[in-house]
Amino acid sequence: MLGALPVVGFTGDRRLSPIRSDPFTLGVASGEPSADGAVIWTRLAPNPLADDGFGGMPARGVDVEWEVARDEWFSHVEQRGMATAIPESAHSVHVELTGLRPGADYFYRFRTGTHVSPAGRTRTGPAGGSLAPMTMCVASCSNYEQGWFTAYRRLAEEQPDLVVHLGDYQYEYAASGKGVRAHVGPETVTLANYRQRYAQYKTDPDLQAAHAVAPWVAVFDDHEVADNWADDVAEEPDPAFLGRRAAALRAYYENMPLRRSAAPRGIDMQLYRRVQWGGLATLHMLDTRQYRTDQPCADGFGTDCAERVLPSATLTGAEQERWLLNGFQQSRSRWDILGQQVFFSQVEFTPGPGRGFNPDAWDGYAANRDRIVHGLAHSSVRNAVVLTGDVHSHWAAEVHARPGDPRSSVVATELVTTSISSGGDGSDMRDDIAAVLPENPHIRYFSGRRGYVRARLTADEMRADFRVLPYVSRPGAEVQTGASFVVPDREPALHSVVKV
Ligand SMILES: [Fe+2]
Repeated sequence: MLGALPVVGFTGDRRLSPIRSDPFTLGVASGEPSADGAVIWTRLAPNPLADDGFGGMPARGVDVEWEVARDEWFSHVEQRGMATAIPESAHSVHVELTGLRPGADYFYRFRTGTHVSPAGRTRTGPAGGSLAPMTMCVASCSNYEQGWFTAYRRLAEEQPDLVVHLGDYQYEYAASGKGVRAHVGPETVTLANYRQRYAQYKTDPDLQAAHAVAPWVAVFDDHEVADNWADDVAEEPDPAFLGRRAAALRAYYENMPLRRSAAPRGIDMQLYRRVQWGGLATLHMLDTRQYRTDQPCADGFGTDCAERVLPSATLTGAEQERWLLNGFQQSRSRWDILGQQVFFSQVEFTPGPGRGFNPDAWDGYAANRDRIVHGLAHSSVRNAVVLTGDVHSHWAAEVHARPGDPRSSVVATELVTTSISSGGDGSDMRDDIAAVLPENPHIRYFSGRRGYVRARLTADEMRADFRVLPYVSRPGAEVQTGASFVVPDREPALHSVVKV
């Protein structure tokens, strides 16, 4: 098991650390795997909840030694080095490893003075055109107040090769007084606020386990900044919003295992990117917040309006759209995965006559979606799967060439993962959803429980298991499979797997 390990192996000097108590209270993480490397991460915070956001660290740089081994006992260390954790980046450390073997597990840990971090496991992508099977777990929406992070613990126990996180990793709100736990600090607005909030979330042992088990590929959604933000527009008019956005993006980078290429410059951050997993999968990770036009239809849920289908309305921005369509043209992978935030398939939410949509999702930007669906259908992509978060419920859907027209061909499948904890215990079905499912025949599954999606990709099929928990209002729930689907190679259709 990962966890407490003997302090052996490190070669650096062992002078007493300038930090008296354990600074590794936020755990370790890895991410952005390639065939020869990954990013390993930690952040020093002996007093993680300090309200200045510095976690009890002194206002100067502190040396941190790191080492990478093939075995969890660190008896065969392959690489080691030094990094300096500086206050300008909240004493976070991002090390970009290179020169590792493809398709291999590695263990990593950090040391400063006499303190040694817990060990994490990471995994490199396979070599070249390898079609070796891969299991990924997909997660989103972990509100610290609204439930225990048991789903992160169960996800870690799956020992996936990869974790894909689709946003709402943390929430900006002040304590509500109604949760199973309480946020520290005010609603996050300043850099210090966001740093403190990340530190609080990262003290959670279940979240730490999910980070320590496998490399993450993460994108943010809205709550890492503020509810339903769109480019330079906050949900409520706010003249200080750009400063808030800059602070939030900086804290996001500091707290996630991202490459230096993602380090923010002012209000901008390069988040959209591709991650290649041998010949099996290309992950196209999208950013649907920084470049979007403002939500149409006054952002009213369950509404409809002409703005919704304007060609100029965009979730991706023109440049990211071109990048994505170009990626489809270039792809030679067995599976092309779109890792993104908001519901891609059309969902019509008005029961009976009349139509209503969610303008914060792709339904609010229909022409942008049409161009992507068209580009996908006329590309070399062999199998397309859209991964989605945001809506705090599990859904499985078939994406039609003409959204809303069930007679048009199916071009992709969509797996929408529920929240880790947001929304509390939940229920299998909700009346408002049951009322509209007959009007959305392309939707094959819904669950209002908490959990995550586990997807196993092989050369021949993708199997998706919607993992659900009976409760998050108390710790310790067991995980079950709510439904399973198989998508065969070259056939974008959800085949229900009957439980035995
Ligand atoms: Fe959320």
